[in-house]
Amino acid sequence: MTELLTIETLVSRTGLEESLIRYYESEYAQSLPNKILRGDTMFFAEPAVDVFLKIHARHGELAGMGSEAASSSKRYGRVIAVTSGKGGVGKSNVSLNLAIAFQQMGKMALVLDADLGMANIHLLAGIQPAYSLKDLLRLDLEPSELITQGPEGIGIVAGGSGVIALADSSSGQRRQMLDTLEKMERHAEIIMVDTAAGMGAGVRDFLMAADEILFVLTPDITSLADAYGLLKALHAKEFNRPLYLVVNMATSLKQAADVAVRFSNCARQFLGVTINNIGYILRDATVGAATVRRTPYLIFDPQAKVSKNTVTIANALLRSGDETIRLNSAFKRYQNLIQESYP
Ligand SMILES: Nc1ncnc2c1ncn2[C@@H]1O[C@H](COP(=O)(O)OP(=O)(O)OP(=O)(O)O)[C@@H](O)[C@H]1O
Ligand SMILES: [Mg+2]
Repeated sequence: MTELLTIETLVSRTGLEESLIRYYESEYAQSLPNKILRGDTMFFAEPAVDVFLKIHARHGELAGMGSEAASSSKRYGRVIAVTSGKGGVGKSNVSLNLAIAFQQMGKMALVLDADLGMANIHLLAGIQPAYSLKDLLRLDLEPSELITQGPEGIGIVAGGSGVIALADSSSGQRRQMLDTLEKMERHAEIIMVDTAAGMGAGVRDFLMAADEILFVLTPDITSLADAYGLLKALHAKEFNRPLYLVVNMATSLKQAADVAVRFSNCARQFLGVTINNIGYILRDATVGAATVRRTPYLIFDPQAKVSKNTVTIANALLRSGDETIRLNSAFKRYQNLIQESYP
């Protein structure tokens, strides 16, 4: 019978860092012997030592560098897709202001406007971007050219019809575009992706590829029903990374808690899905006033209720980060997914 090895034993037998082993494990799952679960510990069969070493040798050759450099160059930012079942619930405001809150906490944050129909992050942020996502398909842009500096030094990638145009573009163009986004993912610590509401094909693929998904709900009953429909569709496609829920435009904490509990209970009971209730935002006239000034509300009035609520959510999200997320690229996953849809 072959010996069963824990990850710690693998680390000592191969001399590879644990993070690197976990990275290889997710990237080369098919080449590895089956893992064995005993109790709540995962074991590898003995041949895994050789397989990991072979993968490492191959990987090192490909990357042309030693193990340390290879593992550190493979750290990616957290890609958090912000979504909702129904439009007009506050996704764009929440994405932008959370990015600003992260930046104020010392994280390098970026907002990517992936709303295809109504790209408006640049308007809310009061900037005039030179390029937008759609230019990625026709121009050979470096990440630095694509990113416009926004309030507090956040990066903004303005929207365009870029992502939807993926369906009509050649696979070479798509690869070029996603390579640029992957480079960007290596440089930022957190990327908030503002998506269009609902479950159009382009949005769905992107959500499936994201590291984490943040649902924005309002107390409005149709917002709940639509969000549940979206969650169900993601569940059917076996989305298995973290899901968060924010209730926006609540009139009281109690109302927000009721909505959050109702939604997360439905998710658990009917789908067996855990959705993490990460905070709420009160309805606040500051949002409208800030929009008129083309200033994000967090900067327009940091003391406003809506701003304080947003900072609390940013803190909660930072606490909930999972390091293994950083070992894989969401844009690479997206590339693989759309490769299947549009070969
Ligand atoms: N907490 C809040 N209090 C008051 N008004 C808000 C709040 N959050 C958002 N709004 C308002 O709701 C409207 C929709 O906000 P926003 O554009 O951010 O939503 P969205 O989900 O991105 O919409 P779309 O689906 O059209 O992209 C805007 O007029 C915004 O000012
Ligand atoms: Mg929007």
